[in-house]
Amino acid sequence: MRQKLTIALLTWAVLLFGAIPGRAEVKSTPAQIAFAEAGERTCLKCHEETKVTPILQTPHAVKGDKHTPFGQQGCESCHGASPDHVARKVKFPTIVFKGPNASPVEQRNAQCLTCHQSGLRMNWQGSQHATNDVACTNCHTLHVSKDPVLVKFSQPDKCFTCHAEQRADSFKLSHHPIREGKVVCSDCHNPHGSSGPKMLKEFTANETCYTCHAEKRGPVLWEHEPVRENCMNCHTPHGSTQARLLVQRPPYLCQECHANSGHQAQPFAGQNLPGQVAANFRLMARGCVNCHSQIHGSNSPNGAWFTR
Ligand code: HEC
Ligand code: HEC
Ligand code: HEC
Ligand code: HEC
Ligand code: HEC
Ligand code: HEC
Ligand code: HEC
Ligand code: HEC
Ligand code: HEC
Ligand code: HEC
Repeated sequence: MRQKLTIALLTWAVLLFGAIPGRAEVKSTPAQIAFAEAGERTCLKCHEETKVTPILQTPHAVKGDKHTPFGQQGCESCHGASPDHVARKVKFPTIVFKGPNASPVEQRNAQCLTCHQSGLRMNWQGSQHATNDVACTNCHTLHVSKDPVLVKFSQPDKCFTCHAEQRADSFKLSHHPIREGKVVCSDCHNPHGSSGPKMLKEFTANETCYTCHAEKRGPVLWEHEPVRENCMNCHTPHGSTQARLLVQRPPYLCQECHANSGHQAQPFAGQNLPGQVAANFRLMARGCVNCHSQIHGSNSPNGAWFTR
């Protein structure tokens, strides 16, 4: 709370006087005395460990930018004002982010959110991750020159530490090229929460799919109802043992909904339309999409059956 208050005060000071108050001014009110006068230099005297110093190469350490921690209270912008730790009266600073001595999740997250409440985090409160006590620092690593969760190739491994099912999916025969580094979880999800279902970036699953598969958006002359309704009627997003990320193989997939299709009512060749092969053959020998190739909808005047 104290840090929040201080940052709020600082922000006001900046707004009112149009300048960043110097450390001397910061010290002048009792609430702010707690911060180390020399900022990060105070901490770095003892913490030159190689696991700490890479943060100096990150956007957080840009001193010239008053929005960054180093533009404010240095290390203490994140770890909290910690005079007792600096004086070695206590083992740890006010906020510890990882390891056995980590502070409560809520306290850690609140610290990050003092600066990162807006933008992608607009729907953080109430998101599945927030309500399940996932910490910002379960995904983010800050004392490294580049946070792995922000890099396409390394992001999925972060998510897989908790999402074993999606990890298993990524190994299946048919999968979005996540493992290959071409698609990342955050192409479809906003892990900070969203107003759509399942933390999808867009309002619906379909809108999310259209961001890359734009040709499926239509409009088409002949719509196939389940396609408009939800791509997930036939596909699964992460991985499938069936080709093309299908939930089932045709004909079974189609027969879930078309159990009494015209084909089954005409079991013998003689009863088919002129020029057509036997209905049996249609059902058994080949996949339905060999003929119904425009399964996502057709623009042909004669495309009512999605065969062209
Ligand atoms: C006088 C030396 C000294 C100063 C100054 C100091 N620390 Fe520490 N700090 C330590 C030592 C030693 C430990 C290891 C904990 C222990 O065994 O006491 C530690 C532990 C920590 C930890 C926990 C590490 C872990 O493994 O969990 C953090 C985080 C930390 N310090 C941050 C800071 C910050 C931020 C500042 C500046 C406000 C700071 N320290 C100033 C000596 C110092
Ligand atoms: C004092 C304000 C402040 C605090 C506290 C803070 N950040 Fe930041 N953070 C910033 C600023 C400013 C940037 C740079 C933003 C930019 O360049 O757009 C940034 C950048 C980032 C980035 C992007 C880094 C990159 O390489 O592009 C991540 C991720 C991030 N912060 C996560 C966190 C997390 C997690 C915490 C809590 C442990 C935290 N921040 C605490 C101000 C803060
Ligand atoms: C479940 C994992 C996860 C959690 C939890 C998480 N993040 Fe992120 N964060 C990501 C991913 C993935 C990205 C990259 C998003 C992208 O590229 O669209 C990201 C990007 C960011 C960025 C840089 C992009 C930007 O918005 O400018 C910041 C800052 C950030 N997160 C802050 C936070 C804060 C603060 C919290 C805690 C309230 C948090 N994150 C919790 C995974 C997570
Ligand atoms: C933007 C927020 C932020 C700032 C600024 C920051 N830290 Fe940290 N610190 C963290 C987080 C988050 C962790 C957990 C490990 C990680 O993400 O790399 C951490 C971990 C640590 C650890 C434990 C290292 C470990 O891996 O066991 C020490 C020690 C530490 N910080 C000291 C410092 C010092 C000294 C400074 C200033 C030079 C500083 N921190 C600045 C967020 C921050
Ligand atoms: C191509 C888009 C896409 C990508 C990439 C993607 N997802 Fe999803 N994810 C979805 C959709 C769509 C759903 C909703 C599925 C549904 O409604 O049946 C979903 C659902 C989920 C769920 C909830 C599952 C459930 O049964 O409730 C989790 C967890 C998840 N995804 C994690 C991940 C992780 C982790 C990654 C990265 C390895 C990832 N996703 C990559 C589209 C995607
Ligand atoms: C520290 C563990 C942890 C990490 C790391 C993590 N998640 Fe989650 N995630 C959870 C928990 C817990 C839930 C809620 C319970 C569940 O559905 O399993 C969840 C739920 C989800 C959901 C389903 C949301 C819903 O509305 O049902 C999605 C999507 C998701 N996570 C995506 C991601 C992505 C993408 C990443 C990596 C950027 C990630 N998660 C990293 C723990 C984690
Ligand atoms: C970030 C872009 C992106 C998004 C969003 C996206 N996809 Fe994909 N999709 C791809 C890429 C890349 C491929 C692989 C194309 C290739 O290999 O030629 C692919 C392939 C596919 C395939 C064919 C798989 C195969 O085995 O041939 C299907 C089906 C598919 N996506 C469905 C979906 C659905 C459904 C959604 C919405 C939940 C979706 N996609 C969202 C990029 C995306
Ligand atoms: C009625 C079931 C069904 C629905 C609903 C459906 N698809 Fe498909 N989709 C299929 C079938 C069957 C295939 C395989 C076609 C083939 O093998 O020729 C396929 C193949 C694909 C492919 C790979 C081949 C191609 O045409 O590019 C993509 C991408 C794709 N679907 C995206 C989507 C998207 C996006 C949606 C939602 C807008 C969607 N699908 C809804 C049945 C469906
Ligand atoms: C989730 C249910 C569902 C699935 C799965 C499904 N369909 Fe459909 N399909 C429908 C609905 C609903 C209609 C519209 C029926 C109507 O207008 O009477 C339709 C219409 C059709 C039509 C046009 C015929 C007509 O009567 O308008 C054809 C052809 C068709 N589907 C073929 C297929 C094939 C082939 C597959 C498998 C790749 C498939 N469908 C999978 C629900 C489904
Ligand atoms: C050899 C090509 C072929 C195959 C294979 C095929 N169909 Fe058809 N289907 C057609 C043609 C052509 C029509 C147009 C009407 C007709 O001839 O009965 C049609 C019509 C339909 C209709 C609309 C029937 C009606 O009464 O309105 C549905 C539904 C359908 N097919 C579903 C399927 C399903 C499900 C499969 C796979 C089990 C399948 N088709 C396999 C060629 C085929």
